[in-house]
Amino acid sequence: MSVPSPRRTEPKLRLETVSYTYDHPAGAVPDFTLREISLALYPGELVAVIGQNGSGKTTLARLCNGLLRPTNGRVLIGGEETQTRSVAELAPRVGYVFQNPDHQLFAPTVAEDVAFGPRNLGLPAAEVERRVQAALTDLAITSLADQHPLLLGYGGRRLVALAGVLALGSPVLILDEPTSGLDQASGDRLFQVLHRRRERGDAAVLISHDFALVAAHASRVIVIAGGRLVAEGEPRRVLTDPALLARAGLAPTGLTRLAHLLEPLGVPADVLSVEEFAEAYERVYRRTRPTSAWEQA
Ligand SMILES: Nc1ncnc2c1ncn2[C@@H]1O[C@H](COP(=O)(O)OP(=O)(O)OP(=O)(O)O)[C@@H](O)[C@H]1O
Ligand SMILES: [Mg+2]
Repeated sequence: MSVPSPRRTEPKLRLETVSYTYDHPAGAVPDFTLREISLALYPGELVAVIGQNGSGKTTLARLCNGLLRPTNGRVLIGGEETQTRSVAELAPRVGYVFQNPDHQLFAPTVAEDVAFGPRNLGLPAAEVERRVQAALTDLAITSLADQHPLLLGYGGRRLVALAGVLALGSPVLILDEPTSGLDQASGDRLFQVLHRRRERGDAAVLISHDFALVAAHASRVIVIAGGRLVAEGEPRRVLTDPALLARAGLAPTGLTRLAHLLEPLGVPADVLSVEEFAEAYERVYRRTRPTSAWEQA
């Protein structure tokens, strides 16, 4: 794909040895939810964060957009520390799609809801309208414009929440399980938008339990376990390494298990998609299958 290769210059987002505790009673030893996380997000990247339930992914997301402030360490957006900025000031720089869409929907119509963010940026009415229409069109929900967001089904509410964040036009997007409740076509549309934005240098963090989704879209994967960053690398290396995943309490996909089982036959153990597996298996099959009677004839 034509996404720019990360320019190893100024990251869009940087975490420097960030630790966080929700509960820090005076005098007590803090029980850190995140421990000394360092990472940088460069233009054009889509970094996936994977980890068990409760490992700290959403906490990490909230630190990235300033909803939470680090107990120790620093979070920098475009080189500037989040500590010095309010959440409202950070919103145009880091768009955040909540894990639960109901935490971000409140207006009486879908169009109003999506307009809220860009209007708050102080944009002219025509530009607000343009962004609302573009976001609704990108996610194929223009027909929902006049509906009440909270009366929609879960997938619909999720799309409205996504549209609201897309309309902000932030150069960094944090997406916490964005495809849960979405059908395949809606998920594909979302990733088409993300792809276009990455081509212009925007970056995104994708939190997801869906390894196939991560494999298809991420340029890099970060593994969190017990609040620590325990591994980082290309999707092919991370997602197809059962021992690495096991260290984070994660299991490889059925596809990876099958590929490892068939490796002695010549199937590469690091196939990342069903298509790759099918091609590799077909090659093995054609080489090893017994020739049928009709082929001999
Ligand atoms: N508001 C809060 N107050 C206190 N503890 C919290 C709070 N939110 C989360 N935690 C705790 O912090 C830890 C990490 O939670 P977090 O929601 O970041 O995990 P997660 O990786 O996003 O999990 P999931 O995959 O289930 O979404 C958990 O032990 C959780 O119970
Ligand atoms: Mg979470």
